[in-house]
Amino acid sequence: MADVQAPAVLDAVAALAELAPVGADPVRGGWSRHLLDDADRAMRAWFVRTATSMGLEVEADRNANLWATWRAEGATGKAVATGSHLDSVPGGGPLDGPLGVVSGLAAVSRLMAEGHTPAHPIRVANFAEEEGARFGVPCLGSQLLAGEIDTDRVRALTDATGATCAQVLEDGGYDPAAIGHDADRLSDLALYLELHVEQGCQLAPLGHPVGLATSILAHGRWRVTITGRGDHAGATELVSRHDPMLVAAAAIQAARARAVETAPEARARATVGKVQVVPGGSNAIASEVRLWLDARAEHDEEVRDLVARVVADVEGASAAEGCQVAVSEESFSTRVEFDGALTDRIGAALVPAFGDVPRIPTGAGHDAGILAAHLPTAMLFVRNPDGVSHSPLEGASDDDIRAGVDALTDALRALT
Ligand code: GLV
Ligand code: MN
Ligand code: MN
Repeated sequence: MADVQAPAVLDAVAALAELAPVGADPVRGGWSRHLLDDADRAMRAWFVRTATSMGLEVEADRNANLWATWRAEGATGKAVATGSHLDSVPGGGPLDGPLGVVSGLAAVSRLMAEGHTPAHPIRVANFAEEEGARFGVPCLGSQLLAGEIDTDRVRALTDATGATCAQVLEDGGYDPAAIGHDADRLSDLALYLELHVEQGCQLAPLGHPVGLATSILAHGRWRVTITGRGDHAGATELVSRHDPMLVAAAAIQAARARAVETAPEARARATVGKVQVVPGGSNAIASEVRLWLDARAEHDEEVRDLVARVVADVEGASAAEGCQVAVSEESFSTRVEFDGALTDRIGAALVPAFGDVPRIPTGAGHDAGILAAHLPTAMLFVRNPDGVSHSPLEGASDDDIRAGVDALTDALRALT
């Protein structure tokens, strides 16, 4: 058992302020923290330092996820887990991920300080590469843990500089040969409750600082490579061009148009947020354009159908311009329904302080969505007044951040 001294209560707002300089992006604005880069390592170091100072058992697993366990005297059985991720999208907001990790540690420190005697260990997780910003595949750490992704494929993934995931893991002190399904660790978890900043704006109109999740849209990412013929912007007659940028423009338009024409109840959305132009000269016709299509809808088949319609448009535009197009699926996450019984238990625990808490669906992916296929899983959302996320404009008030910690503390107390 870890030697637990009476810990200082961790204030989530102060901890987030301490983390604010880490990975602040001077070019894009916001924060850029990607798997095992300097910023991510600094975030991880903060996690280890803070959890250790609280007397928690801290360990990294084989898949670069970090865990901090409070094994109080008399606590037995499987662990009740909470947490989130410390990485970010490129130029993202301050709360997507860190809020859940910081709130998990803050809630545990509160329970320790109030003399709670949990019947079960409580574990706080930091999942690796949740955003997939470095290697393209979201929820990489939780997918590896759960055995949901081929390890050879993961080792061979490359980042924007061409470094392989295997190399990055090794440089970070992990054995790339050892990644993959960790059945023992997974089966040692009784349940997982992830707190997250709300993405979208459902709680503000309802006047509630926190909400519980019902479901996650099915979603995936497709890489579209359009090959044309690089040439001179001034010397090449319009009729003899094979310009992949025109096809990329058609793809971007098709993403919106095909999502818009989908039946409203499918809640379809499609986005192109990342484009690479080769060679990228202002006076050169591009030779190749790579773009990434993010598509989401209520049900798996609606996403597949949406992508098929966008791809048909892109293929048509490509043929008209004399280009070639190749499409590959980088990830697909099926629709997730969170555990109703666990959500009910948490809802009941929140009633004294929060009343009946709203239950809302989300369009964002989460490690909780990966784990939901393996253990009872639930999510707690903290009100985001404008709903903006994956942007430096993402936010929550200090009062709501503290309310989120209150709610997580109440939930963990009741669940342990
Ligand atoms: C992650 O936040 C995602 O929904 O892409
Ligand atoms: Mn995110
Ligand atoms: Mn997140």
